[in-house]
Amino acid sequence: MSRLSRCFNIDDLRHAAQRRLPRGIFEYVDRGTEGETLLCENRAAFDRIRLRPPVLEDVSGRSLETTLFGKPLAMPMAIAPMSPAGLLWHEGELALARAAASAGIPYTLPTESMTVLERIAEAGGRLWFQLYLWNDRKLSHALLERVERAGFEVLVVTVDTSVMPNREFNSRNGFAMPIRPSVRAAIDVALHPRWLLGVLARYVLASGLPKAANHPEAYRNAIFRKPPDDATGISRSMSWDDLRLLRRKWPRPLIVKGILRADDARKAVDAGADGIVVSNHGARNFDSAVASIDALPAIADAVGDRATILLDSGIRRGSDVAKALALGAKAVLVGRPALWGIAVAGEAGAHHALDLLRAEFDKTLGFAGCRDVQALGRDLLAEGTRS
Ligand code: GLV
Repeated sequence: MSRLSRCFNIDDLRHAAQRRLPRGIFEYVDRGTEGETLLCENRAAFDRIRLRPPVLEDVSGRSLETTLFGKPLAMPMAIAPMSPAGLLWHEGELALARAAASAGIPYTLPTESMTVLERIAEAGGRLWFQLYLWNDRKLSHALLERVERAGFEVLVVTVDTSVMPNREFNSRNGFAMPIRPSVRAAIDVALHPRWLLGVLARYVLASGLPKAANHPEAYRNAIFRKPPDDATGISRSMSWDDLRLLRRKWPRPLIVKGILRADDARKAVDAGADGIVVSNHGARNFDSAVASIDALPAIADAVGDRATILLDSGIRRGSDVAKALALGAKAVLVGRPALWGIAVAGEAGAHHALDLLRAEFDKTLGFAGCRDVQALGRDLLAEGTRS
C-alpha cells in the first residue's frame, strides 16, 4: 500500500507529514500562537454544532457543484493562501495549483510564495492571488499590476495581521524569520533526509536557497537574510482608505480576508469588496480571537445578500464544510489539509486531501438529506446549537 492509501483522513495525513518534515517546518505550519487556545477552539466550535438529519429523502444523484463569482466550481472549496508551501515540497505552490485545477477548484497564491507568480499563471486552472499590503505602497501597487497582467481572476486582500503574531514555538525551535542556520536546525534537517534531498537540495541545485519569489529583486532573500529595509514588510498602518485604493486599482473580483465582525464586513462591502473570508488566520495570529464558524452567522446576516461569504480556519472534515454552508458561507478555504498533502506526496498528496474532504462532504450531504449544496440551510442545525 502506498503512503497515501494509508491516510484515511486529514489527521492521518498530518501525522505522515510530521514524519517527513524537519520539526521546525512542521511546527511552523501546525501550531498557533501563545497558549494555542484558538487552535483548539476552532475545532471545538465545529464539533459543538450538531445537525438534525432528516430521513426518507431521495439523496441519489447528489451534486457538489456550485458557482463562485459567476464561474462553476466542482465543490464549494478553494485552497487558501499559505506561504510555507514551497518549503514543504519543491515548488509546492505549483503542486497545489495543479491539484486545485484537477479538483475543479481555485488555488490562492500568497504574496510570499517561493514560486514566482508568472510561473504559477502558466500552470492554468482558476487562480486567485493573496495580497499583503507592504509598507511601500508603490511596490505593492506594482505587484498588483503584475498579478493582473498574469491573468489572476480574484484578489484576496488579507487584513488581519495588524501586528506580528506571537509565535513562541518558532523562537523555541529556531524557526523565527528570517531563518538563521544553527546546530539545532542542522540536526533537525539531517534527521529528515527525504526533505533534505527532495526539497532543499533541489532548490539549491536549481537556483539556490528558496526565496520570496514575488518580491522586488533586492528583497527576495528575506526568508534567510534581513532585507535592506522594511519596504516589503507587512504594513502595520493599512486602513480602509488603502482598501478603497486597492479596489480602484483592481478591476476583477476582490475578497477581503480576515473579517470576524459584522460591522467590519459591512465596511468592507461598502468599500467595494465582492467577497469576505470569515477567518482567524487558522489560529495563527491572535489567540483570543473568536472561532470563525462562531463569527459566521452574524456576518452572513449582515452582508450575505451583498457579497460572497467564504470561511476558513479549522476545516478538517467534509462535515465542517457542510456546517459552514448551512450557516451562510458559499464555500470554504482549505488550508493545512492541503499542505499536509503536499508534504507527503506533492500534487498527488494535495489531491488526496481534497478527495478525502470531497468524499466526507458528499456523505454529509447524503445524511443531511440534501441533493445539492444549495439545500444546506440553518434548518439542519440542532436546536440550541446555533440561531
Ligand atoms: C502568514 O500568513 C502566516 O500565517 O504565516
